[in-house]
Amino acid sequence: MNKTLIINRAQCEEILTVEKCIPYMKTALVALSENQAKVLQRTMIPHSNGNMMANMPASLVSENVTGSKVIIFPGPETARMGTNQGIIPLFDITTGELIGIVDAELITVVRTAATSAVATDALANKDSRTVAVLGCGKQGKAHVQAMLAVRNIEKVYMWDLYSDTTKSACELMKKQFPSVEFVRCETAEAAVKEADIICTTTPGKTTTPVLLGSWLKPGAHVNAVGACSARGRELDAEAVSKSTIFTDWNEAVQRDGGDILIAVADGTIPAVPAMYEVGTVLNGTHPGRTASDEITMFESVGISVEDIAAAKMIYDYAKENGIGTYLEI
Ligand SMILES: NC(=O)c1ccc[n+]([C@@H]2O[C@H](COP(=O)([O-])OP(=O)(O)OC[C@H]3O[C@@H](n4cnc5c(N)ncnc54)[C@H](O)[C@@H]3O)[C@@H](O)[C@H]2O)c1
Repeated sequence: MNKTLIINRAQCEEILTVEKCIPYMKTALVALSENQAKVLQRTMIPHSNGNMMANMPASLVSENVTGSKVIIFPGPETARMGTNQGIIPLFDITTGELIGIVDAELITVVRTAATSAVATDALANKDSRTVAVLGCGKQGKAHVQAMLAVRNIEKVYMWDLYSDTTKSACELMKKQFPSVEFVRCETAEAAVKEADIICTTTPGKTTTPVLLGSWLKPGAHVNAVGACSARGRELDAEAVSKSTIFTDWNEAVQRDGGDILIAVADGTIPAVPAMYEVGTVLNGTHPGRTASDEITMFESVGISVEDIAAAKMIYDYAKENGIGTYLEI
């Protein structure tokens, strides 16, 4: 029996950064759009306390690896306790061996921001200098790092529903990126109106939007990240209808892209608009942005091939550098 390499959270933190993850997300999105990855939609078992047991399987054929992210999306009580646990078992497609088990929490944060970086690099105007972040939690902070990795950003406007959270996130980001100006905003509108790139990273669990299309300036690029189900949104219908829409995976957005689906369901936009996978922009099949005043939107719902690609990158690095623990399962 082969031994399985177990890589825990602290070891993942040693290995994975947003910057390192970006090329792997690029590969994953292209593989998906070229049928070199097999992905199933996320399935979830809901529980009465709000905890959701999620299963997200994918195969990355080019890496000869298959697996699944198995994770609890915490309900309110569990979130307060700080519990957020998940694993990614990785199997060799050829031999069927369980080669690794990788902690999933850090991967979820980092691969999401890295995927937004890939979309932004493909779609945002090259001279973008300002970013707005709505929602200053884990994703909001990781998205600052992600945007700085792909554009020469000079100023970041930050806003959260809770002003203490905005303040502490701004202070943390200032320490981490001293050459960038961080502006603490009192309203979402104040954050968005001057921004070239907007990242929405709020919980996105309700139908009340946090980003209105009337605030967007011509040429803006939006990464819509927080709303990952048909029941919640962050963008209003105007923001959607003004934008050319790009996705991580069209099939997932057609089921879980609340920003779009809610506007269609309430009749404010007539039908699900045309949408294009970022992978098709990366491989040159779709031109992406075609004018500097076009508004582009990346609707991110988060897909399992991103998790498997990030887990495989961590596994390869850990194996090569003697990190982790081998166990016979
Ligand atoms: N698209 C993807 O691939 C993907 C992946 C992971 C997480 N997510 C989603 O991203 C969202 C944020 O995740 P996180 O881990 O950063 O959560 P988090 O709890 O760390 O941060 C959320 C932040 O939003 C703030 N907030 C709460 N309600 C708000 C409101 N109405 N308006 C503005 N801010 C508000 C909170 O104060 C908090 O700072 C979640 O909805 C999560 O499901 C998406």
